[in-house]
Amino acid sequence: MATPTMPPDPRGPRPRLLMCPPDHFGIEYEINPWMDVTQGSDAAIARRQWQALREAVVALGAEVELLEPAAGLPDLVFTANAGLVFRGLFLPSRFRFGVRQGESPLFERWAREHGFEVVPLPEGMYFEGAGDALFCGETLFAGYRFRSDVRGHQWVGERLGVSVLPLELVDPRFYHLDTCFCPIAPDAAIYYPGAFDEYGRSVIRDQVPRLAEVSAEEAASFSCNAVVVGRTVVLNRGAPKLAATLGAMGFDTRPLEFSEFIKSGGSAKCLTLRLDGEEAAAWKSSP
Ligand code: ARG
Repeated sequence: MATPTMPPDPRGPRPRLLMCPPDHFGIEYEINPWMDVTQGSDAAIARRQWQALREAVVALGAEVELLEPAAGLPDLVFTANAGLVFRGLFLPSRFRFGVRQGESPLFERWAREHGFEVVPLPEGMYFEGAGDALFCGETLFAGYRFRSDVRGHQWVGERLGVSVLPLELVDPRFYHLDTCFCPIAPDAAIYYPGAFDEYGRSVIRDQVPRLAEVSAEEAASFSCNAVVVGRTVVLNRGAPKLAATLGAMGFDTRPLEFSEFIKSGGSAKCLTLRLDGEEAAAWKSSP
């Protein structure tokens, strides 16, 4: 009997995300304005919120790979900062702060064991991976100042042969690009204008035809830090205006609670690293 043939999935192969269970997550130092060691965090709530994100992306069709958590590295859970994935290459982060530098060997080992070619940046450059470098279409938008530096981004652009648009981040609360800019299609992104200077805003407006602008209030609830799977944007609760804007642009939204991770300055997107390539992430989600 002939086997029936399936039509190819128009979105291409399943999206793959790297996540790290929050077993050792906590607020143990302060390296951004959201962190307050006296506030602490609740391990059980963090676990529930992380698990809900994992279940949501799996239900949307993504495949989740897990990195083993490690004691003494409370921010390892933020896999967006592992590095930048581009096709089969993995460019590991060079963290600005010593407290996060111990994560790099673990991320690098994971990448090597999973078939990526690891391409280290030269010494003396700072680069915080997909936290600060995001493809929208074929262009790499690159945030700098608080964490990554411009030289790191330039080196990455040359090594990958892609065009890089450096954007200066001006508000310390939005210290990584993924806290204020989120590509959702090759021609579309979510962004919070207040995190950029006038020049950065004009670059974004010139380069990205469809923009979902976020208010100061909704940006402060980390709504730009979203994960896109297919046509669904998974983001922190508390951004009804953005949800309406995204709806009008043809996207569904899936609000979840990320309060424990926001205490550390991270939300949905920070907890994931797209492994099938950030450039593919934007491309495949195009409505
Ligand atoms: N506490 C972490 C830090 O300050 C949060 C990282 C959030 N990650 C991100 N991709 N924005 O480094």
